[in-house]
Amino acid sequence: MGTKKQKEYGDFQTPDALAQQVCNTIRHLGVSPKTIIEPTCGKGSFLQASIAVFFECPVILGFDIDPDYVQAAAAATSEADIECEDFFQKDWLNTLNNLQEPILIVGNPPWVTNSALSSLGSTNLPIKSNLQRYNGLDALTGKSNFDISEWMLSHLLKCLSGREAVLAMLCKTSVARKVLNYAWSQGLQIDNSAIYLIDAAKHFNVSVDACLLVCALKPGTKSKECSTYLKLEASKCESTLALRNGRLVADLDSSDKWEHLSGRSPLKWRSGVKHDCSPVLELWPNGLNTFINGLGETVRLESTYLYPMLKSSELVKPYPTHSRFMLVTQNSTSEDTRQIEHKAPQTWEYLQSHVHRLDGRASSIYQNRPRFSIFGVGIYSFATWKVAISGFYKCLEFRGIGPIDNKPVMLDDTCYFLPCKTEDDVKILLQLLNSDAAQEFLQSFIFWDSKRPITAQILSNLDLTALAKEVGISLPTWLDARSNHQTTLW
Ligand SMILES: C[S@@+](CC[C@H](N)C(=O)[O-])C[C@H]1O[C@@H](n2cnc3c(N)ncnc32)[C@H](O)[C@@H]1O
Repeated sequence: MGTKKQKEYGDFQTPDALAQQVCNTIRHLGVSPKTIIEPTCGKGSFLQASIAVFFECPVILGFDIDPDYVQAAAAATSEADIECEDFFQKDWLNTLNNLQEPILIVGNPPWVTNSALSSLGSTNLPIKSNLQRYNGLDALTGKSNFDISEWMLSHLLKCLSGREAVLAMLCKTSVARKVLNYAWSQGLQIDNSAIYLIDAAKHFNVSVDACLLVCALKPGTKSKECSTYLKLEASKCESTLALRNGRLVADLDSSDKWEHLSGRSPLKWRSGVKHDCSPVLELWPNGLNTFINGLGETVRLESTYLYPMLKSSELVKPYPTHSRFMLVTQNSTSEDTRQIEHKAPQTWEYLQSHVHRLDGRASSIYQNRPRFSIFGVGIYSFATWKVAISGFYKCLEFRGIGPIDNKPVMLDDTCYFLPCKTEDDVKILLQLLNSDAAQEFLQSFIFWDSKRPITAQILSNLDLTALAKEVGISLPTWLDARSNHQTTLW
């Protein structure tokens, strides 16, 4: 994407044909507004399409932060009132309160995240940008990144709640879901919602899952469901997104069908090891006790702290094979790493020679912890057998992982796994987790367009004991005994 200003303003002007199609879709839903607002109107393609499609609407307002766009939009149409305004400075509640209903807010807000803005040194942000209220580990591991359109859409919905209005905006599909989640959990007065998928590569030349989000608001309503359509012209609803028991569900029919499998997993799903230093801590074998690291250095290391490892990209292959080793410096996150000096002097020397890289890891999870610490490590990481899945790939197939040369295999932090005691346990768990029942249950919670579609939370919601009954398989006795009280060890 072009200039700094374009980046800062998340500027992707909507092609006229798409704006027209969007307005036609809204019209077909029976929307007949008395006021139309385009809050970030750019050159004004939505203003022009609105004038053409909702020709009887008496008031059409447009705003944008960029004076050049305001001028261009004003030059293109005389039927709309267009002003230069910063969305974040505007008193939307007051503005909307003074407008005649039904109100239609239509458009395409900026496509930019708060972290992209901060790397540009931009302040094009809401004053209080804590919408997602990330806390604990998510904040520490840097997940507190959000699209500013999420804040804008959520704010508009909050201001529209209790009014007769429709919000219809183009956005990332992930943003649409977060906005709905926010609106539903806040109990905003939404009558019905729909998501129409659009082809962002075709219209905006960007590779992102995008959609038109439509929320119809009416006083006294509180629907928590949203129909999903595959394209703007589609009339058949593909699936229903919903909020159930405080959780977003991707496919309501399927989740209702398998509701009896929902519960608490008697086994705890674990993440692979996080170390944030692959050039140093991941190594390829290059002869006896000799390895090449990610910096291209050839090093001699004892085998004491080295474990065969699989990355997500290797785990998704039908028969995962490992190519590299992970240097696992601790058995648990609190373990003192100074003992490495005596147990494996070459390894200690190697770590010392890369102290700057290891000390320089940005994440605060390594602060105030023993030097060379890693994260997501515990007795479970060293389980000889594992049933694993990648959280990153669009592949819902669980794999059985056994030891290599008598050493347990480590997984990277994009993978999840259940530690197992024996190969037989692995076989039983694979039968269960790859069964149609488990797959359909899990699919009903998975949003495949997410950055990390499969999460520990989704996996943990599958009650393996109920699944075993459904599939007609007996659980291993050690697992069955734990089914009433989840163990933290395994
Ligand atoms: C994705 S473009 C879409 C423009 C127009 N809505 C369209 O559909 O063609 C986002 C627009 O938001 C404007 N914008 C960015 N930050 C803004 C802010 N804080 N207040 C108002 N407009 C803003 C940009 O100038 C840009 O025109």
